[in-house]
Amino acid sequence: MTLLKGKNALITGASKGIGRAIALRFAQEGANVGFTYLSSVEQGEALAKELEGLGIKAKGYRSDASDHVAAEKLMQDFIADFGTIDILVNNAGITKDGLLMRMSEEQWDGVINVNLKSVFNLTKAATKFFMKQKYGSIINMTSVVGIKGNAGQANYAASKAGIVGFTKSVALELGSRNIRCNAIAPGFIETEMTAKLDEKVIADWRNAIPLKRGGQPDDVANACVFLGSDLSAYVTGQVIQVDGGMLT
Ligand SMILES: NC(=O)c1ccc[n+]([C@@H]2O[C@H](COP(=O)([O-])OP(=O)(O)OC[C@H]3O[C@@H](n4cnc5c(N)ncnc54)[C@H](OP(=O)(O)O)[C@@H]3O)[C@@H](O)[C@H]2O)c1
Repeated sequence: MTLLKGKNALITGASKGIGRAIALRFAQEGANVGFTYLSSVEQGEALAKELEGLGIKAKGYRSDASDHVAAEKLMQDFIADFGTIDILVNNAGITKDGLLMRMSEEQWDGVINVNLKSVFNLTKAATKFFMKQKYGSIINMTSVVGIKGNAGQANYAASKAGIVGFTKSVALELGSRNIRCNAIAPGFIETEMTAKLDEKVIADWRNAIPLKRGGQPDDVANACVFLGSDLSAYVTGQVIQVDGGMLT
């Protein structure tokens, strides 16, 4: 398991769910892993220990991905600790659902800032290092909701659709420097984020999925291993759906 051997990866929002699975899969493939968390401090500290147990270099940073200044500092700290950055995974995300008529400005701004502005913050901060070494893989976590829309998630869908446009633009801007930028659009993945949903909504989603099951965080992490590794050296500007065929 050495697909990522020697590569330094930074993953945002890895204290739980999909981000945590990506951190563990990357470490199993030999990557050194830096990751962020915000409110789940104990889980973040526990993950750092678990990763170190896999024999790679690992460090957790408590950092708000939506804060532009904090993102710059995070990148400087990561480079000071790891030397270079090869893979950036913009995974941090939240939901603040509600029908548009009842959606507050705080619900809108909160989701746009954490889900979309964070991707700008971290990608911009990493780009100067990627450009210097003429190598880099950026993986942005969008969602099938950003492709299809979802009633009650206008803020979330807009943030995730924004990530798709951002990903394709960055791929066009930076391809000549051998910097790749792709997005992953998970469908219904069983994490704390989806555990909040009503049981009937979950049952309806499962029934509509051709593979007839919810996805696991590792299903998404495996796609990240592909995009982070040199197996995908000729893949950029793409949105890979990891959704059990949900939108097919
Ligand atoms: N689960 C799904 O079905 C699904 C489907 C499509 C897309 N996605 C996307 O996949 C990503 C991960 O989702 P998940 O299901 O794993 O969610 P989750 O279990 O709720 O985990 C979210 C992670 O993001 C971190 N986070 C939240 N706000 C942050 C901030 N401001 N700065 C840094 N980290 C922050 C959280 O850290 P703390 O707890 O430490 O604050 C946590 O580690 C999200 O972008 C989500 O939109 C998920």
